[in-house]
Amino acid sequence: MANGLDDVVAADTVLSDVDGAGGHLTIRGHSLMELAGRWRYAQVVRLLFDGFFDDLPSDAELEKAIGNARVEVFDRVQPMLAQLAPLDIYSGMRAGMAVLPDGDGLADALRLIAAPAVLTPALLRLGRGETPVAPDEKADHAGDMLRMLSGAASPALAKALDSYLVTVCDHGLNASTFATRVVASTQAGLTSAILAGLGALKGPLHGGAPGPVIEMLDAIEASGDATAWLRKEIAHGERIMGFGHRIYRVRDPRADALKAVVRQLGSRSETGSRLAFAETVEQAALEVLRIAKPQRSIQINVEFYTALLLEAVGFPKEAFSNVFAAGRVAGWIAHAREQQATGRLIRPQSHYVGPVPDLVA
Ligand code: COA
Repeated sequence: MANGLDDVVAADTVLSDVDGAGGHLTIRGHSLMELAGRWRYAQVVRLLFDGFFDDLPSDAELEKAIGNARVEVFDRVQPMLAQLAPLDIYSGMRAGMAVLPDGDGLADALRLIAAPAVLTPALLRLGRGETPVAPDEKADHAGDMLRMLSGAASPALAKALDSYLVTVCDHGLNASTFATRVVASTQAGLTSAILAGLGALKGPLHGGAPGPVIEMLDAIEASGDATAWLRKEIAHGERIMGFGHRIYRVRDPRADALKAVVRQLGSRSETGSRLAFAETVEQAALEVLRIAKPQRSIQINVEFYTALLLEAVGFPKEAFSNVFAAGRVAGWIAHAREQQATGRLIRPQSHYVGPVPDLVA
């Protein structure tokens, strides 16, 4: 069956490699473990963009340029925020990003990096009946995102969010990155390509999973019996959110990187007890899945601890996919540039299985 393009290699890339059997993620020559919790998001943006833009500045200058881009995006989108606010938070963000210029330069790329970080807190605040907080161009990207959300950002929470953005910055030819590359291969601009990635990321089989993870944890807590709850879901043909992956047959390394960040935050009592509960659910889910699906190794994926981390830093579950996009947008842009540089249109074939017309004599 060709429907899922399993095992099809559709691009050469220097950007990242997912080793599904070994459980390793390499990003431009660095293992995820080397980057997560150590590099700042702006440094990783630079790492991904290197060679794809002519005018790439130093890390410090790039951090400043991202700050300036946050201010520029805020000024651009502010007049339309009231119209975007009634949409669901993801669609509101996407619609706000759609009005950005559709060029291929570094300024275009930085606006796209800035946009999810600016639009998400602004729309969340409007949804709560609060006034959006303008960006501070001097703040670090993750810290400013939290400041725009709640008026202040503790360094520990800002660091945790920064680690999250780094952890999800790129991940091989996942569905949204492929969608981005397809559009970029037509030589459309970066905004068009990123909008394709945003569309693909929204679905629950991809970046839409962490919100439902919170719903699952809450339902399991209310039920009081994780194993029974999980068994019932599987018996009804439901999928356990935050588990399973097309490529990984072992633990997704990003899950452990994020769990370590949540553990560090866990000295705060609420996060600590939530983590302890999530760990018991994780163990129960792995056991239930092992018994229910013995033919397939279904392990934890990035979304399970994403949910805990984003909850701990203060985002509501309906905005989790937005924050995922705020990290992944760096990888999408680099992939779009890499694809554009090949000059090759992505145009596969389909296998026609429909009715054939009557032949006219
Ligand atoms: N819960 C229950 N069963 C699962 C499962 C999950 N999370 N993930 C896979 N399976 C089962 C399928 O039901 C199927 O079982 P069957 O053979 O008895 O029908 C089998 O594993 C293979 O499923 P398939 O859809 O072919 O696997 P895939 O590699 O395409 O799945 C995902 C990858 C991510 C789509 C899938 O694991 C999933 O839906 N996970 C939950 C959503 C999620 O966490 N998404 C975020 C991904 S990072």
